[in-house]
Amino acid sequence: MGRLPSRRYASEDLHIRGVLGGGVAQASRDQWSSSFGFFAAAVGSAVGLGNMWRFSYLTAEKGGAAFVALYLVFTLVIGIPVLLAELTLGRGAQKGPIGALAHFGGERWKALGALFVVTGFLILSYYSVIAGWTLRYALESLTVGIPRDAAAHFGSVSEGADAFLFHALFMAITMVIVGGGVSRGIERVSVVAMPLLFVLVCALALYGATLENSAGGYRYYLNADFANALSLDVLVAAAGQAFFSLSLGMGAMMTFASYLTREAHLTRESWVIASADFGVAFLAGLMVFPIIFALGLQGAVGESTLGALFVALPGAFAEMGGTGRFVGLLFFVALVVGALTSALSLFEVVVSAAIDELGWSRPKAVLIMGVLVTLLGAGAAWNIAVLDLMDQVANNLFLLAGGLALAVFTGWVMDEPIAEARAGLGSSRGLGIWRFLLRWVVPPVLIFVLWHSVPATLENLWMFFAG
Ligand code: PHE
Repeated sequence: MGRLPSRRYASEDLHIRGVLGGGVAQASRDQWSSSFGFFAAAVGSAVGLGNMWRFSYLTAEKGGAAFVALYLVFTLVIGIPVLLAELTLGRGAQKGPIGALAHFGGERWKALGALFVVTGFLILSYYSVIAGWTLRYALESLTVGIPRDAAAHFGSVSEGADAFLFHALFMAITMVIVGGGVSRGIERVSVVAMPLLFVLVCALALYGATLENSAGGYRYYLNADFANALSLDVLVAAAGQAFFSLSLGMGAMMTFASYLTREAHLTRESWVIASADFGVAFLAGLMVFPIIFALGLQGAVGESTLGALFVALPGAFAEMGGTGRFVGLLFFVALVVGALTSALSLFEVVVSAAIDELGWSRPKAVLIMGVLVTLLGAGAAWNIAVLDLMDQVANNLFLLAGGLALAVFTGWVMDEPIAEARAGLGSSRGLGIWRFLLRWVVPPVLIFVLWHSVPATLENLWMFFAG
């Protein structure tokens, strides 16, 4: 089974072996240079297009505050436990998903880790297409301004060669940063980008409050329509969103935690990361809805589709003249920054797997994998329906199934998860509840959700290919 003799203290002996020079791979493995560095990178991974673009369009489509409340419940009950599981596995093994699952469960678990890497690959390929739109909109706001007919504009730039070009540009930036390594690339960018993003989102939410019709926007956003929210479709979307937004179910958080030392307090990190992630999503709603309502553009979000934000908001900014152009610039810069730090984590999963499992050098891994992701994204760049489908498959199937597997693995398969989570430090308060949730709550909830999301997603796939 390839288990290490003492799994509980395995990372400690790896560390000692590294220090003594025995563990070559370990000694040369990069680490975060400060605890704020890890925190900024992890929050950077969580906060992204999921908080601003995906959260807003789902909230509009699925009934406002009731959807938000459900998403919050899923974050608390299944998101945080799975987040802590990922941090525990990654830090304990000092490896990304393939190595970590093998470390704690034996060789046969490698396949699951490999599936995570494939999911990261898939998500990044379409995520980068949307990020490419935001990059284009930011550059346009800065230079020529976004045309008044925002719908026509979005139609002409969201698909085809233009979309591919900006997707490739965004991937190139991602590749340069990840190529710099964990502490000198990802961390250095995140410690600047995250505070910047936070300031921008707060400023934009405050600006939203000054607009004339903002009350209408808040009412729409914060009015709970529970009758609507209890439909299965909304439940599935809220669960998928909880995982997507926290970057869970595919090893991103695990990979980042593999660069942590044993001193980190994982329970606290999980709470803080989840709070920051929810906080930014909530603030994003406070900025998006008033702006759209102030200009009477709610029709565009009412029948929300994945592109609604890229039509309604630029439309609103164009109506506002000079101020709008400036506000639009800040908004799209915030989106680009959020998207970039999330893309770094998705790409690091793929790159670190190639380094650890295939023995490639970092530059080689970045180059080959980056080109492959860019090529795979061509489908989503050429056809928005493909992008939508990839998003559904990734979230409603892969991330949820990945979360289920992680909960079962940590709750039932792994030895002594509690000892590993606290790593001999601090108290184990709350960790009993954590294991209880992983064993008895997360799996049934996710099985229930998957029971409905699998047929629905397969049907959408079938409809796409059949006609
Ligand atoms: N959490 C990121 C966002 O909200 C997306 C993401 C998903 C990043 C999965 C990494 C892994 O935009």
